[in-house]
Amino acid sequence: MPVAQRIEQMPAYVFAELADAKARIEATGHRVIDLGASDPDWPPHPSVVAALAFAQEAHAHRYPPYRGWRPLREAVAKWYHRRFGVQLDPDREVLITNGSKVALVHLALAVVDPGGLVIVPDPGYPAYRMPGYLFGYSLRTLELDPRRGFLPDFHQVKANDWERAQLIYLNYPNNPTGAIAPLQFWEQAVEWARRWDVVICSDLAYVDMVWDGRATSVLEVPAAKECAVESLTFSKSYSMQGWRLGAVVGNAEVIEALYKVESQVNAGVFLPIQRAGVVALELGPQEEALAAYRARRQWMAEALEALGFAFTPPPATLYFWLPLPGGLDGKEYAQQLLRRAHLLVTPGEAFGEAGRHFVRVSLTRPQSELERAVAAWKEALPLLVAP
Ligand SMILES: Cc1ncc(COP(=O)(O)O)c(C=O)c1O
Repeated sequence: MPVAQRIEQMPAYVFAELADAKARIEATGHRVIDLGASDPDWPPHPSVVAALAFAQEAHAHRYPPYRGWRPLREAVAKWYHRRFGVQLDPDREVLITNGSKVALVHLALAVVDPGGLVIVPDPGYPAYRMPGYLFGYSLRTLELDPRRGFLPDFHQVKANDWERAQLIYLNYPNNPTGAIAPLQFWEQAVEWARRWDVVICSDLAYVDMVWDGRATSVLEVPAAKECAVESLTFSKSYSMQGWRLGAVVGNAEVIEALYKVESQVNAGVFLPIQRAGVVALELGPQEEALAAYRARRQWMAEALEALGFAFTPPPATLYFWLPLPGGLDGKEYAQQLLRRAHLLVTPGEAFGEAGRHFVRVSLTRPQSELERAVAAWKEALPLLVAP
């Protein structure tokens, strides 16, 4: 059967590959501890789940409104005002999406012309690179340098590429590095985007997972609405990752363009899920879950240090971004760790070339599993560093 060249050239989705590798080991009778996934293990709040009872009503099953249920758009706008003092028009500046991953990819279709150019961070969430593989856009990378707090230097991209670029993805609090961005960073990003007429897509997936400092929104910059949109998801803050609920907010023209794409290729989010989204936003972050992640982070930082890793615990997110000793290759290291310790971590390369000598360790497992993971890691350590 014919398969498009673009699919043959596209790398497999690394988290799907990791899930397969895990299944292969588990088929041999071993249990794998999974510190690879970015899959919150905390259940959603009971009142969020209870909102699904709306599914008992016949009209709950109709096609939802294409822009999203208005009370949810209003709740998103209110959340922005509460959280960042940012005013949003729920009709023109808020679009409800089926989670954030697909919206991030479709956004490129909405704003980039055929043959156009997209700027992506390296390391960065893999979906940002998909517009390159799927839609044939050129990609330019902005390396996130640990010495700059994992903030990019916009001068890395040449002027003629800025000239061609139509979209840049930025993500703080950052996956995988755990960095946060000060407001001055967004001021600088908005200045560059306006100078070169580029749309900023800020991905705010980890807005509530900040342990030291605060999350900032690009929309806090007064001129940001001229050039920026921001993506939100209910996956991390409210543990609703299986529900597929998100929003994109900001520049009205970009929202309208994305709405055009989404209304042609998607059909909205199941209404009871949108109702539950309103409940979640009104409840606010899951404090209990955040306290657990914070405690795990504290414990894990010390445990990894005791294993010999030299790193500074990141201020945010559910991850540790670990530089490997002696410049070891992350993919090789992760494979060995899986084989020898039945422990799954994500090779840094999954996030781009700059991650080659890193692995990402996720805190989305209970404390007892983290302890077992570290014990297994410790035992396998002499074998892992051997040439
Ligand atoms: C930075 C970042 N953005 C977006 C997403 C996608 O979230 P979802 O599609 O569940 O909304 C993730 C998921 O891990 C992520 O890490």
